[in-house]
Amino acid sequence: MSGLVPILLPIHVITAIVAFGPNFAMPIIARMAAQEPQHGLFALRLTDRIERRLVLPLALTMPISGGLLALAEGINPLVSHWLLAAIVLYAAAMTYALAVQVRVVDRMIEIAGHMAAAGSVLAAGPGAALATAATLAQGAATPTATAQATSVRVSKFANPGMEMAALGVRARNGGFFLMAMVFIIVSLMAGKPTL
Ligand code: HEM
Repeated sequence: MSGLVPILLPIHVITAIVAFGPNFAMPIIARMAAQEPQHGLFALRLTDRIERRLVLPLALTMPISGGLLALAEGINPLVSHWLLAAIVLYAAAMTYALAVQVRVVDRMIEIAGHMAAAGSVLAAGPGAALATAATLAQGAATPTATAQATSVRVSKFANPGMEMAALGVRARNGGFFLMAMVFIIVSLMAGKPTL
């Protein structure tokens, strides 16, 4: 099976690049949404679509190509602790992405949709809550300012702007966490340190 390594390794590496590469564009999308609040809902939906259609499906195939690679190369994760550590981090990152991050963005889209339907975004102008995800991700707006942007009642918070503010911070921190995980996993895979 070792003859398959020249096929499996490129598949594994290219899948990783295509799967996790788009995440590095997310802060750019967020910054543009902050500058153009009228497109905030679209930016959120674009982010969500990329995550669901590209990032997550490909990321979920990594254990398949990686597992086959480990078999082909005769690498035992119980002996090669760099691989064991990478698998544990991968499991933690995917669990967080699926259980928390995707839901945070879903909720932001829901609130932004309510706000757009109520017309509060247009009324609020630049810095409106519709762009909160992006704006707060860049630290360019305060929860208070955002909260004042709308008075639509769609959340358990004092107003949806405040919930958007909290979600924006969570989305940003979650994004940093996931990017850090990818960085560490790739370092373990490439460096194979003795642990
Ligand atoms: C979770 C299941 C995974 C398993 C079982 C696995 C397994 C492996 C194995 C056995 C290798 C071959 C190491 C070698 O001899 O060169 C490898 C390489 C690699 N893996 Fe993974 N992997 C997994 C997930 C990931 C993830 C999530 C990423 C990216 C974030 C990744 C990125 C890489 C890269 C870039 C290499 C090439 C390293 C090099 O050749 O320098 N892997 N992986």
